[in-house]
Amino acid sequence: MSQFLSAIKERRSVYAISKEEVISDQRIEEIVGEAVLHTPSSFNSQSARVVVLFNEQHDKLWDMTKETLRAIVPADSFGPTEEKMAAFHSGRGTVLFFEDQEVIQGLQEQFALYKDNFPVWSEQSSGMLQFVVWTALANEGVGASLQHYNPLIDEKVQQEWNIPASWKLIAQMPFGKPVAEPGDKQFNPLDSRLKVFK
Ligand SMILES: Cc1cc2nc3c(=O)[nH]c(=O)nc-3n(C[C@H](O)[C@H](O)[C@H](O)COP(=O)(O)O)c2cc1C
Repeated sequence: MSQFLSAIKERRSVYAISKEEVISDQRIEEIVGEAVLHTPSSFNSQSARVVVLFNEQHDKLWDMTKETLRAIVPADSFGPTEEKMAAFHSGRGTVLFFEDQEVIQGLQEQFALYKDNFPVWSEQSSGMLQFVVWTALANEGVGASLQHYNPLIDEKVQQEWNIPASWKLIAQMPFGKPVAEPGDKQFNPLDSRLKVFK
């Protein structure tokens, strides 16, 4: 199997993570930068925007998310949510994925025929970027998972890190040193999911 495919096979959702260094923070920045540059986007629109949080900035995100959820989850069932927040907080950093709506609106005006497609393609392109970052981190021993506390946390994130109003938060990817193996994963049979005609 190619190195590329085995990297894809190895990537998993890793929830148990620590702050311990696996690769340098600078290397993480490089990986994210390469992913942002080389992941494709519709019409080469390059609408992806990314913020990487380390150290107390990362901690702040998960404290903020916990408090946002505490305000809406009933107190007697908040325990599991609090545990989840603590698990993400235990990580080394978080990648925040955004899509710049100004770019998307610009494309909608310029190419009216595809008006309805641009928001869909933007999400698809962001998904590709998320996958590239996730897999590239896993390939260098860094565990990560994909989270969606948007839109609940959008306003607070925007204020805290001075994010432009046109950047729409799409996903959050907490990462760190894996401290437990992910469980087994079930696969539906390929013959019900893949058709080939030749
Ligand atoms: C588009 C997408 C959205 C996801 N959203 C979440 C999420 O909000 N929270 C979470 O814990 N996992 C999320 N996941 C992770 C999936 O549950 C996980 O990838 C899947 O169960 C397969 O497990 P694996 O990642 O270990 O291969 C998401 C995955 C994808 C592809």
